[in-house]
Order: sequence, then structure tokens, then C-alpha cells
Amino acid sequence: MNPLPHDPGRVRPRRLRTTKALRALVAETRLCASQLVMPHFVLDSRSAREPIGALPGIERCGIEPLLQTVDADFALGIRSVLLFGIVDDAHKDAHGKAGASAHGPVARAVSELRKRFGDELVVITDVCLCAYTDHGHCGFLDGERIANDPSLAQLAAMAVAHAEAGADMVAPSDMLDGRVGALRDALDARGFSETGILSYAVKYASAYYGPFREAAHSAPARGDRQSYQMDARNLREALKEARLDAEQGADMLMVKPALAYLDVIRAVKQATDLPLAAYNVSGEYAMVKAAAERGWIDEPRIVRENLHALARAGADVLITYHAREALRGGWL
Ligand code: PBG
Ligand code: ZN
Repeated sequence: MNPLPHDPGRVRPRRLRTTKALRALVAETRLCASQLVMPHFVLDSRSAREPIGALPGIERCGIEPLLQTVDADFALGIRSVLLFGIVDDAHKDAHGKAGASAHGPVARAVSELRKRFGDELVVITDVCLCAYTDHGHCGFLDGERIANDPSLAQLAAMAVAHAEAGADMVAPSDMLDGRVGALRDALDARGFSETGILSYAVKYASAYYGPFREAAHSAPARGDRQSYQMDARNLREALKEARLDAEQGADMLMVKPALAYLDVIRAVKQATDLPLAAYNVSGEYAMVKAAAERGWIDEPRIVRENLHALARAGADVLITYHAREALRGGWL
């Protein structure tokens, strides 16, 4: 290509980096507010709000502060939310039945958000049992083992409750086999054929979820999630999970965590024609916050670099606790 490969005088890549305007003109990756999803932790309460130690800047909110927060975020351009419910231990049982309650925090939040924002807000709900089971696992237990198939009806009931409340999409995060198909069947049978499924198709067993489990009170009481979440050493398995969920009717796929899995994001993107989300999870956020608090890194520039890396790898949608601050500060 270059007629004079050793002559720096003619071909100069630096020409396109000369000014900020030129760099913006030829940028290969661009982020905008419409592709960001802000996660929220919803309390079973009207007005409570609680800070979360390991997630500075993020709170657990009852319905009223949630509406205020989503309102303010909406003004910044955030048009999509992902909701996680939190209930008291007294409401937890072996099967996580509270997750499917029409009066639970998520169902109530969905209908209030729908009332307030109509169709202008995309409301996505996490569907998993771990925040509602007394043992903290994502499915039913049979002794020490996960009872995969018996759990599916409960997960499906939770999805139907969220659909009934008005969710645009339900997002199963349990990593049990067959749950996307089970959710699709249950939604269709109840007349919710237009409610979408954003599958946490490629979800690794990860230490990066630590702060989230504190936030959602969803840590397993015994054992860990390695029998259902994926092994971090595997890439081909990601393609298998993505394909199976697409076959079962997922409308969108997700890779989670994000930054340690850029190769996975790229590979899944190349293998699917579904929109792909990357979840920039709690531990990834907490590490940035901790280093920034100490003055060890420049937070706006780190966040900009991280989020663009996800887009460059192939993510269409970014789920990130940084969304609000990144937009407010013009970091992107
Ligand atoms: C529930 C769930 C988890 C996350 C999202 N949904 C935790 C887990 O699987 O242990 C993690 C999100 C984050 O760390 O930000 N299954
Ligand atoms: Zn779970």
C-alpha cells in the first residue's frame, strides 16, 4: 500500500490526530445516551433511600426517590433502566416466591415508571430468584444441588408479573438451562408476545459481582454459583450459550462482566445478528471509584476509555453504573 514504506514524510497517520475536531470526525466508535442503560436497586418502600458502601453514588431507592432519580436521569438523556428488587429477609423463602408478586418492589416500580414516562422510557427488569430465596441461589435447591427444571416455572412467573406491570423487556440472569424458552412460552401463553427477552446469555461466575451482592442482599448463604454461571476460562462455551438463547427466542443478548471479557463481546457479536449488551458490572465500577477517590486515576478519562472499549469490542448497548455521571459530566 505505502509506496515508500520507510519514508515518514508522505504517509503520516498523525495528520488525522491533529485537532480535537479532526479526531472527532474520524472516530471509529461513538457513544450516545440512547445506548446507555442505568441499573437501579428498588426497595420495598415508598420513600426510603440507602447508600451502598461499595457502590459510591448509587443508592437503593423506594418508589418515590426512584421516580425522582429516573426523572433527573431522563433529563440527562438516559432512556433505559434495568431494575433489581430488594426485599426483607422475612419475605424470602426456598423458592423465591416474592419475586413473582404483583405487589413486589419491581412490579410496583414498573407500573409507576410506566405511568410517569409512558413509552418514552425502556423498562427492563432483572429476572432471577437469588434476591428472593432464603439460600441466595438463583434457582431452587435440592440438597446442595440446583434443581434446574423445577426452577423454571418460578422464573417464568416472575417474568409474567413484570410483563403484567408493563415491562418492555425481562432480563433473565439466573443462567439455568432452558430458561429463555420457558420465559418465552409463559409470556406468550399469557398474551405478552410483545414483551422482549434480554438474555444474560453469557454470564461468567465472577468476583466482579461482589459489590452487587452487598447492594441486593443476594449473596449465596452457602456454596457459590459455579455450577450455573460460566467458567471464566471459556470462550467457545459463550458461543454455545448465545446460540441456545437465540434459538429459544431471546431478542437481545448480554455478555457479563464486560471489561475482562472484551474478546467474548467481540466473538459473540460476530456470531449473532441480535443486538448485544455488555454489563459493566458493580466490581468494575467500584474499582474505578476506589482508585479515583484516592486520586490515583482520572475518573472521567478512565470511564470514557472503558465505555468506548466496550463499544469498540462490539457492544451495542452498555449497562453501566457510570451512565449518569458520564452524561452529566460530558465524559463521553
Ligand atoms: C443476579 C444478578 C447479579 C448481577 C446481576 N444480576 C449477581 C450475581 O449473579 O451474583 C450482577 C450485577 C453487578 O455486579 O453489577 N443473578
Ligand atoms: Zn441470581
